[in-house]
Order: sequence, then C-alpha cells, then structure tokens
Amino acid sequence: MFSYYGSKSKIVDLYPSPRFGKIIEPFAGSARYSLKYFDREVLLVDKYPVIVDLWDYLKSASEKDILSLPDVNMGDDIREMGLDPGARLLIGFCINGGSTEPKSIGTDNINRNFNSWNRDKKRIARELYKIRHWEIRLGSYEDIPNESASWFIDPPYQYGGELYKVSNKSIDYPALAKWSQQREGQIIVCENTRADWLPFYPMREMDGQAKRTVESIWSNYPHNFAARQISLFSEAIS
Ligand SMILES: C[S@@+](CC[C@H](N)C(=O)[O-])C[C@H]1O[C@@H](n2cnc3c(N)ncnc32)[C@H](O)[C@@H]1O
Repeated sequence: MFSYYGSKSKIVDLYPSPRFGKIIEPFAGSARYSLKYFDREVLLVDKYPVIVDLWDYLKSASEKDILSLPDVNMGDDIREMGLDPGARLLIGFCINGGSTEPKSIGTDNINRNFNSWNRDKKRIARELYKIRHWEIRLGSYEDIPNESASWFIDPPYQYGGELYKVSNKSIDYPALAKWSQQREGQIIVCENTRADWLPFYPMREMDGQAKRTVESIWSNYPHNFAARQISLFSEAIS
C-alpha cells in the first residue's frame, strides 16, 4: 500500500507461500507478504505507533477518501493542507520512497516520488478491499499468543536495522531466535547473511544500496534456497 524502509516489495515472490489459513506478521511494517496473500486471515503487529495508526486509517478509509486526497507538488508542505492525521501519515510515507518515518516535504528524489504519489493513490484506493478483514495491533512480538499459523517474521536486521524508529537496538536476537523457533505452524524468518542468530540461507543479492547485502531466509518448512552455500555468497560480496 505504502512505501517503507526495508519493505519486501522487490523480493516477496521469493518466499514460500503460506501453508496455513492465517498469516501473522509480528514485525508488520508495510506488510508486503500479507498483501500478496491478502485473502487469508491476517494479524499485523508493530511496536511503532505510526505504522499501526496508518494501517488503522487505511482499514477504515473509503475509496473516495483516498481519491480525494490532494496531489502534492514539489516544495509543498503537507502540514499546511488540513489533512486528517491518517492521511498525513499515508502521504508522508508515499512522497518519500523507502523512508522509516513519514515526511512533511519531499527531498532530493522528489520528482519520482511525487509523481508516484499522484499515481499511487489510485492504486491504493483500488486495493483497500484487500485489508478490510485484517487485524492490526500495537505491541511487541513477544505479546502475541502462540497459535498455528504462517508466521512471517521480518524484524529490523541485526546488522542494518539501526535506522528504524523502533530499531534493532531493543532486540535480543538470541531470545528472538528461540521465540521464532517455538512458533506453531509455518515459520519464515527474514534477515541478511551477516546475521548469526539462526542458520540463514542466502536468497538474493540486493543492489541499489550503499552496502551490498544478501537477503536470507530461515524456515522450518522446505524452501528453494536450502541447497545454497552461504560461503559462496559471502565471497561474492566481500
Ligand atoms: C523490517 S521492518 C518490516 C518490513 C515489512 N516486512 C514490510 O514488508 O514492509 C521491521 C518492523 O519491525 C518493527 N519493530 C521493531 N521492533 C519491534 C518489536 N519488538 N515488536 C514488533 N515490531 C517491532 C519496526 O517498527 C518495523 O516496522
């Protein structure tokens, strides 16, 4: 729906599809995995209140609400547009691609992002029906009761997750490893190959970033990446 730092938009197709009727994303962000399989029962949890407020806004917004939001031109300050708080969050993320927080005025790559918001609101309005039945909660991952589901676990990365408003600094990775492995059902954990808290398998090198990283996966179910050797990927990016 909206742009977010670390979203899985480019690689969501690489992950195994859900084997259970319910998807739980304990580190929701922009929840690209749930959006791909939107017709399942979906529970999103995030500790950053802005994310939860934005999902709540989208859940209750009508198509007309979204389509009537203003276009934003270069240099416009959206704080001066008399927007609802939820609309301000949505536009604030959409005018600054890949940001960790909503912004008020677009910055350097302004043209691409503004054009994209003016187009994207039509797509967002069309997609609202997908999320009407979702449940969205403010909280920390440890608060979620265990149940049989497809758990898509995408925390701030151990190396690289420093920029989030609720960042990797507050995460105890050995405890998260134990918690992840104890989930009932299908467990999919996302990281990059620098992480050492689970035996991750490399998936794909990500380009267009200051530091090249390799996205990786751990799962208790078979996946397409189990035959790859992590050492080959480490050499490729060193
Ligand atoms: C890597 S992002 C998730 C990206 C998401 N998969 C997507 O496609 O956009 C990680 C998210 O975890 C949230 N977070 C950080 N610590 C948390 C915690 N203890 N419990 C729940 N969410 C947390 C951050 O606010 C952030 O939105």
